[in-house]
Amino acid sequence: MLDLATKTHNEERQGEAYAPFANDVNEYKKRFYIESYGCQMNFSDSEIVASILNNEGFGATRNFEEADLVLLNTCSIREKAEQTVRKRLTEFRKVKEARPGMLVGVLGCMAERLKAKLLEEEKLVDLVVGPDAYRTLPLLIEEAETGQKAVNVLLSREETYADISPIRLDSNGVTAFVSIMRGCNNMCSFCVVPFTRGRERSRDAHSIIAEAEDLFSRGFKEVTLLGQNVDSYYWIDEANDETVTFAKLLEKVALVSPDLRVRFSTSHPKDITEEVLTTMAKYENICKYIHLPVQSGNTRVLQLMNRTYTREWYMAKVDQIRRILPDCGISSDMIAGFCSETEEEHKDTLSIMEHSQYDFSYMFFYSERPGTLAARRYADDIPEDVKKRRLQEIVELQNKLSLDSNQRDIGKTFKVLIEGESKRSETDWKGRNSQNKMIVFPKTEGSDLKKGDYVWVKVTECTQATLLGYTL
Ligand code: SAH
Ligand code: SF4
Ligand code: F3S
Repeated sequence: MLDLATKTHNEERQGEAYAPFANDVNEYKKRFYIESYGCQMNFSDSEIVASILNNEGFGATRNFEEADLVLLNTCSIREKAEQTVRKRLTEFRKVKEARPGMLVGVLGCMAERLKAKLLEEEKLVDLVVGPDAYRTLPLLIEEAETGQKAVNVLLSREETYADISPIRLDSNGVTAFVSIMRGCNNMCSFCVVPFTRGRERSRDAHSIIAEAEDLFSRGFKEVTLLGQNVDSYYWIDEANDETVTFAKLLEKVALVSPDLRVRFSTSHPKDITEEVLTTMAKYENICKYIHLPVQSGNTRVLQLMNRTYTREWYMAKVDQIRRILPDCGISSDMIAGFCSETEEEHKDTLSIMEHSQYDFSYMFFYSERPGTLAARRYADDIPEDVKKRRLQEIVELQNKLSLDSNQRDIGKTFKVLIEGESKRSETDWKGRNSQNKMIVFPKTEGSDLKKGDYVWVKVTECTQATLLGYTL
């Protein structure tokens, strides 16, 4: 999954405060403040939470010190992600001491993993709400307002929040996330997500298309379809006697308008089908970019990880993508120092990165998560300094591959969707090409280009992270 500004998908990202309706905040009786951590799913869920709270008369604020309700939408993927949230909670303690009426709630994956234990561990927390229980927030808030602690961490087999129109938080007005499924049925041995997010379920395809159409009619030009494993999307349209696979769904969203770009994340290498690749090839507006996490380049380690593919199988998948979509960007996730990984096996990860020529990657060292298969079955036996050194080697190789990839683009011309002004300079625009690379280019005097426009840009220079060019 991708983060628009920093490409830190699934990374414990600095939380952000949002004020989607700052101008009319006085209309609201009460104010909420929300910070999101973790993957795009969580950021997308916060937009559903904002919608539910908005219906209850809550307005958003960017300043937690003036909020009646402070919410942290949390991530459990690595230990560090949880530590970041705990640190943030201690910062809220002081404010709560001064304003005891303020409610503090923990949402998301940490709420689900720790459940009521969180109330014992973090005394200032009033609400603990798991990812499938957001509809009950109004009731839980009422309960907490009477001084009781309120918890709902029930997971559901059906909940997809299909009928809730998310309130776009801190939106650039051009790109938006659309959640298409929830949960995960895979059991990668290192991963906490199946425990925090529950069973996989796909959202009604009609509601997905309607959301994409609505976004486009409001000026949005790009949607990213979100799920932990989008390729296993599966929904039966009984009224029309049609089975909607991910490839079919992609096509339906692409047909909303040729001017609406479609992205998706994340693809599990075992599930991405040839039909998805040929559908991508058929529609110009389906972006030529696949996030295809490998995790390790060694078959024995992949087996321990329960990824269900081998090194050779993954390499063949990359070759197939290159054959069907020669200009496709590919990125990956890697875990360094998984249980019992040898030096040779680590080198297999480096060599599969060379084979795949990733444009960029998200790289982590293994962090044992309580309750997962790996925590129960295997010893976390790679010393921290070795994990960190292996990670460093992976990062250095990726830096080189990213620079090589960007240098290959010098001299090429790309269609870029303008997302806004460059962070560094008001006189430059920034946007991305189909392959998900950020391109920065100067505004031309007298031109009426604006955010949300498509423009052709010729690349003249690059850094490891960005392409630089000029408009044609
Ligand atoms: N559903 C996505 C990934 C979700 S988690 C997929 O299957 O690709 C995002 C990334 O975090 C994973 O791809 C993995 O690289 C990393 N990750 C997950 N659990 C981890 C752990 N216990 N330690 C370190 N990294 C982990
Ligand atoms: Fe975790 Fe694997 Fe599911 Fe991804 S596919 S969320 S890594 S269990
Ligand atoms: Fe984190 Fe939960 Fe996403 S554990 S990565 S927020 S699904």
